[in-house]
Amino acid sequence: MTLHTKLFSPFKIKGVTFKNRITMSPMCMYSSTNENGKVAPWHYTHYISRAVGQVGLIMVEATAVQMAGRISTFDLGIWHDEHISGLKELVNSMKEHGAKTAIQLAHAGRKAELNSSIYAPSPLAFNRMKQPIEMSESNISDTIDAFQEGARRAREAGFDVIEIHGAHGYLINQFLSPLTNKRKDEFGGNREKRFTFLAQIIKAVKTVWHGPLFVRLSLDEYAEGGNTMDDFIYYAKKMKSLGVDLIDCSTGGVVHTPIHTYPGYQIVHAETIKHRANMATGAVGMITSGLQAEEILQNERADLIFVGRALLKDPYWPRSAAAELNEKLPPPAPYNHSW
Ligand code: FNR
Repeated sequence: MTLHTKLFSPFKIKGVTFKNRITMSPMCMYSSTNENGKVAPWHYTHYISRAVGQVGLIMVEATAVQMAGRISTFDLGIWHDEHISGLKELVNSMKEHGAKTAIQLAHAGRKAELNSSIYAPSPLAFNRMKQPIEMSESNISDTIDAFQEGARRAREAGFDVIEIHGAHGYLINQFLSPLTNKRKDEFGGNREKRFTFLAQIIKAVKTVWHGPLFVRLSLDEYAEGGNTMDDFIYYAKKMKSLGVDLIDCSTGGVVHTPIHTYPGYQIVHAETIKHRANMATGAVGMITSGLQAEEILQNERADLIFVGRALLKDPYWPRSAAAELNEKLPPPAPYNHSW
């Protein structure tokens, strides 16, 4: 009898089944040409090769919901209906190879490297970057609308999953963290108020999106005075009650500080949120081998394994992981009959 590994077992959320637990972590390619945010030839090569490589869920990189929310002018965008057709073609091509598809909706806030004005909850610059403009209530409501419109466009493009980027010190994280949010209105002052911006985005997204919804968080701010694990458990429980299906557990990026990394350095956070908030989680960060991924899943430390750089180095990483675990993956579809 063959015992199947957990890494290559399916996972189902809201009627969407991923064929295995391997998720390609969102990674900016800064490859959109002409500063128009559109899908470019590189994106097809990059994402489709990972679909051929048997990744279960491919998450398209941080994609800007507003022009002012781009990390750089080469970011992918979803701020206009003109973006839908390129994304749709990309989604269809990935699906042809059996992958499920996700997109990370993002806004850089004070970490936008743009010549134009940049925005944040409070007028505090990140490290030596440009001073952001403190967002007015109308800036805030326009941005919430932009996430909603981004979600509507993602639905029209055919994505299976939406992830809201609430990590790495970008705009949503800037609202969540007491280190970057000094507001005294309904969007700041205590953790409940700092959560309001993300809560309103989730509610707005859910009016146009009924599929699986993930949120990426930075669960360690590596700085005194930042959110604590108790705060993150509080946010995760709130998100669960708002209908979020999975927390993708990353760390850092809120303030400029070195991070000590080592294999699996962020897994403990995925494990804590999974058990303390009773929420499905994704583990990410220096997960590079099939055995390591299998350990995380078998010990119920996370539900999905997000792989970043290992998949940049090897688009067929799932095949190497399968070989380590004595799993046999099917050959690429066109050769199915001759092998
Ligand atoms: C990233 N990362 C990242 N994270 C995110 O949430 N959105 C993004 O668009 C990006 N962009 C990005 C680009 C590149 C080139 C790298 C290497 C990383 C972080 C990434 O998703 C992942 O969390 C980390 O790389 C840690 O996982 P690995 O690489 O150790 O598996």
